[in-house]
Amino acid sequence: MDQIRITGGARLNGRIAISGAKNAALPLMIASLLTDETLTLDNIPRLADVALLKRILGNHGVDYSVDGKRPGQDVMTGETLHLSAKTIVDTTAPYDLVSRMRASFWVVGPLLARMGYAKVSLPGGCAIGTRPVDLFIEALLKLGADIEIDAGYVLAAAPKGLRGGRITFPKVTVGATHVALMAASLARGETVIENAAREPEIVDLAACLTKMGAAIEGAGTSTITISGVERLSGARHTVLPDRIETGTYAFAAAMTGGDVLLEGAREDLLQAPIELLRGIGAEVVVTNEGIRVVRNGAGLAPVRVTTEPFPGFPTDLQAQLMALVCRAEGTSTIRETIFENRFMHVQELARLGADIQLEGQVATVKGVSRLRGAPVMATDLRASVSLVIAGLAAEGDTTVNRVYHLDRGFERLEEKLGRCGAQIERLVAA
Ligand code: UD1
Repeated sequence: MDQIRITGGARLNGRIAISGAKNAALPLMIASLLTDETLTLDNIPRLADVALLKRILGNHGVDYSVDGKRPGQDVMTGETLHLSAKTIVDTTAPYDLVSRMRASFWVVGPLLARMGYAKVSLPGGCAIGTRPVDLFIEALLKLGADIEIDAGYVLAAAPKGLRGGRITFPKVTVGATHVALMAASLARGETVIENAAREPEIVDLAACLTKMGAAIEGAGTSTITISGVERLSGARHTVLPDRIETGTYAFAAAMTGGDVLLEGAREDLLQAPIELLRGIGAEVVVTNEGIRVVRNGAGLAPVRVTTEPFPGFPTDLQAQLMALVCRAEGTSTIRETIFENRFMHVQELARLGADIQLEGQVATVKGVSRLRGAPVMATDLRASVSLVIAGLAAEGDTTVNRVYHLDRGFERLEEKLGRCGAQIERLVAA
């Protein structure tokens, strides 16, 4: 298995092109199942999760093609993907595929809405807690589906089509909001989703569905109203920039010091992390090219942070923030409220010399004056990149094992950081 080796100590200086958001690309690709016409998506990031979803969609009968690179296009430019679900040949999403990526469970919504039937394996994905699917099922029941769970599969049926309904989520869920949006777009009548997720990726999906002919109001607020339509058409849509990738490199620049321009990054997607970074001691400047993060030698201040649904501080940046405040002057507390088991990076950061105490959902991080490189293990997508951030500031070599976690969500990470002066390389397994 590949490894990433980092020799810490270099400051980051330069530009990093921000890729399209993985968490928007995935539901947008899944939305192609809703129409028999072609959906074209621009700025699709080159990631293992995207490749896997292509396979999963292919299994349902989706034909896809990727535009070749045009002259003058940078290697960092995202792909243009054409997806055509003219005929759905299979309404089953099997265990061996769904178990590898939780988001592939979301095909349940469009398959059910368009075909009246779906058989989808219960999901797998990152090992960051139990992550049940009860809220998806609740939502589909409200839209008139019959649901059975049998032998590890969710069997959802609505032979006469879905009908609009009122869905009130007891807790904010991104995935179930995506699924409810897609399913309700093709349901008969009006659907109201209350306590909907307000994440920018929801807004992006709603924008694309609207281009496909859906009637959606309120995306980005906690109440979304959808008037179902009989059919959706093809469309063309550009995936929004990845706010988690942006935040990750912003924290990396704050960690090492230096001056990095995050090209194409959007401030409105990252207000809480930007405010926090400023409080920690980095200078964050919004320019017409993106977001610039500068830190010149000054110490890092400790923080008190709770992860929350958007627009709060995202759980997907919690591990990266923790790596950063390992070097703060003082004690930080980080409370994780979204996933109960998202602290697997703690013991790996400790291998680099971090001083972190865990009590329930709260990590108390005492800043240390130095970190020392060591071999560490990536445990999930965001945790693995926190080890890279720590490694960038650690003395000596850090080797990150199980890099496939990183490849699920970070496009050309070592190249992007390397171009800014980081000493980082991929050791390719023989
Ligand atoms: C999405 C993101 C993930 C991010 C998370 C929270 C994608 C591909 N993934 O994951 O990167 O960390 O949002 O911002 O976009 N829950 C239930 N029952 C359900 C569904 C969810 O209890 O049926 C719980 C989860 O266990 C969790 C909370 O709701 O505690 C939020 O999860 P959710 O927002 O659904 O996360 P995902 O959509 O899986």
